[in-house]
Amino acid sequence: MKKLRFLLIGCGRISKNHIAAAAANPDTMELCAVCDPVVERAEAKAQMLKEQAGYDAAVYTDYHKALEELDIDVCSIATESGYHAQIALDCIAHGKHVLVEKPMALSTKDAEAMLRAAEANGVTLGVCHQNRFNAPIQELHKAIEDGRFGKLVNGTARILWNRTMPYYTQAPWRGTWAQDGGTLMNQCIHDIDLLQWCLGGEPETVMAMTGNYLRDIEAEDFGSILIRFKNGAIGIVEGTACVYPKNLEETLSIFGATGCAVIGGLAVNRVQTWNFETPAPQDELVAKLAGTDPKDVYGSGHNQLYANFINAVNTHTQPLVSGYEGIKAMKIVLAAYKSQKTGKAVAFDGLDFASTDMTSADVKVNG
Ligand SMILES: NC(=O)c1ccc[n+]([C@@H]2O[C@H](COP(=O)([O-])OP(=O)(O)OC[C@H]3O[C@@H](n4cnc5c(N)ncnc54)[C@H](O)[C@@H]3O)[C@@H](O)[C@H]2O)c1
Repeated sequence: MKKLRFLLIGCGRISKNHIAAAAANPDTMELCAVCDPVVERAEAKAQMLKEQAGYDAAVYTDYHKALEELDIDVCSIATESGYHAQIALDCIAHGKHVLVEKPMALSTKDAEAMLRAAEANGVTLGVCHQNRFNAPIQELHKAIEDGRFGKLVNGTARILWNRTMPYYTQAPWRGTWAQDGGTLMNQCIHDIDLLQWCLGGEPETVMAMTGNYLRDIEAEDFGSILIRFKNGAIGIVEGTACVYPKNLEETLSIFGATGCAVIGGLAVNRVQTWNFETPAPQDELVAKLAGTDPKDVYGSGHNQLYANFINAVNTHTQPLVSGYEGIKAMKIVLAAYKSQKTGKAVAFDGLDFASTDMTSADVKVNG
């Protein structure tokens, strides 16, 4: 397998997971350079890489310069969400594969442009929905693929977290329509991705009620969504940044005619319920996965997500979370935004919407 050369663009809060992924995949990747306009952040991440992986990375403050000067294969993008699309398009235009943080973009037009550009340039596009690699989630999806649930009825994604004002003020892009969206787009999108992945991946109609209750931000800090899938199953999302006084749970529940599974804990990493009509050898392994919560809510899925992405590039296949997959959860959230704005159910196919089509007035809660 070819050892791929990476450039990391964006050295903020989540970039440590990308450094850890480089350290965890030393045979298949080299993180050649890190880039951030705030040079101290890039330098800090180069230092972290040195400590964890034992080698040096070049430091850049301008990704255009890095693209011109370096011989790299892949760009990882971990900037503010509102910049993802433009940076990805620039990297793709240079013939680079792109692994972009979630959400891949903040508008359907931008995300579709990224998919088209990647296809036209023959490069691989992946999105960081790392929770798909949590061991209990992998087992859950396998049980669905094996037909152990029978007819799927419904599933629930509950993201009951807390984000206080210092979280928003330390990075003022958070909670803005132009750069982030609200809690559905930022925090809840992971569980929404898992919900849609497990319920068949083909949403049909989306209805939502959201609101801004407690945080002094433009976008919603609470959202509820109903999703009807083409196979008839219904997905329910309850997502909040307002739980007092701290993160409570991130849970995915899936219910079918002959199976019921609940994966919960702080960040969908613990098997809580695992009931099936027909036992399978898999169940013994799953029983051992009652597990413990990861140290932080991001988990450690980036390591496996990188391994999967690198393998996909080398074998000319799609990664588990390709751009075609990553767009789905983003579109569900944008459809939820449109539903909140219009008060109507929204068709998933053909949706044309952007976070910037929303205003604070759209999520204002009276009373
Ligand atoms: N996968 C996950 O679990 C997870 C968790 C947290 C954040 N994220 C996502 O990662 C992204 C970053 O979030 P964060 O919390 O790390 O934000 P952050 O504000 O801590 O970091 C963003 C960094 O990008 C840098 N940046 C901006 N423009 C740049 C450019 N042109 N070139 C290079 N760097 C640039 C900023 O200076 C900043 O240091 C967001 O899209 C967020 O949604 C994903």
